Amino acid sequence: MKKVTKAIFPVAGLGTRFLPATKSVPKEIMTLVDRPLIQYAIDEARAAGIKEFIFVTSRGKGALEDYFDHAPQLEAELEAKGKAQLLDVLRDTNMDSGAVAYVRQHKAMGLGHAVWCARRLVGDEPVAVLLPDDVIAAETPCLKQMVEAYQETGGNMVAAMEVPADKTSSYGILDVKEDMGHMVSVKGMVEKPEAGAAPSNLAVIGRYILSPQVLDNLNATQVGAGGEIQLTDAIAKEIGTEGNVYGYRFRGQRFDCGSKAGFLQATVSFGLARDELKDEFSQFLTDISNINRAAE
Ligand code: G1P
Repeated sequence: MKKVTKAIFPVAGLGTRFLPATKSVPKEIMTLVDRPLIQYAIDEARAAGIKEFIFVTSRGKGALEDYFDHAPQLEAELEAKGKAQLLDVLRDTNMDSGAVAYVRQHKAMGLGHAVWCARRLVGDEPVAVLLPDDVIAAETPCLKQMVEAYQETGGNMVAAMEVPADKTSSYGILDVKEDMGHMVSVKGMVEKPEAGAAPSNLAVIGRYILSPQVLDNLNATQVGAGGEIQLTDAIAKEIGTEGNVYGYRFRGQRFDCGSKAGFLQATVSFGLARDELKDEFSQFLTDISNINRAAE
């Protein structure tokens, strides 16, 4: 079985939910504590053995390309000042020449279309897809868990998580064939089902390992839910083949950083997880909740 060494990061979205911030700053550069959202996805991909990083961008995402460039002047200054720790932080974000590729999506036509834009850079091998809006805190990074499981199964794999029944219409939803606990085999998938029509409450979360056939399927995938070309539909076409699509219940906590509430929750959680912040920050959270309670 071919190893998964390439990953696609769809980053072409307009980020309208975060206007006015996203008027000039790409959503993926917005910071969770002190790291841009995209850095979490990159770190997760690296931990899973990814060597080639393909970004599907759009107009106005130049800051993202700059972010992945080296910063020789800044590095020289930090070195001259003896700031070794900061230098390490900075160097850890450097990407090797040739390891990063950018393709532009010229029109917002959906996640399936964004992934399709990267097809020539992927070629005939499996590829991971990471949606940076879904930030997953986990002891073993989510994609690494999936790559390990995929080595046993092959085929196609999507991260999956139970969501409340009133939220199923915001996700791709799995129709489960066999439930093996940490993994399910899938007999159907539907993108953003209408309320009451979901086949389960097991939702697709933004981590995928896809076979080349799925990218091939995207050539002929018609417009689906929301008038967009859906990745879910292209994966669902593979289900006919026995044991070919799996949902993987990852161990970890997922934050929906595509929403303001989710971004704030992630900020609190990641802030509390930092040694240098946790005492002061948790004291603040206790104080502020006491003040709010007293005011009620
Ligand atoms: C995308 C996918 C959807 C998936 C979701 C996870 O939707 O199309 O299947 O459940 O990501 O975050 P979006 O949130 O981009 O509308």
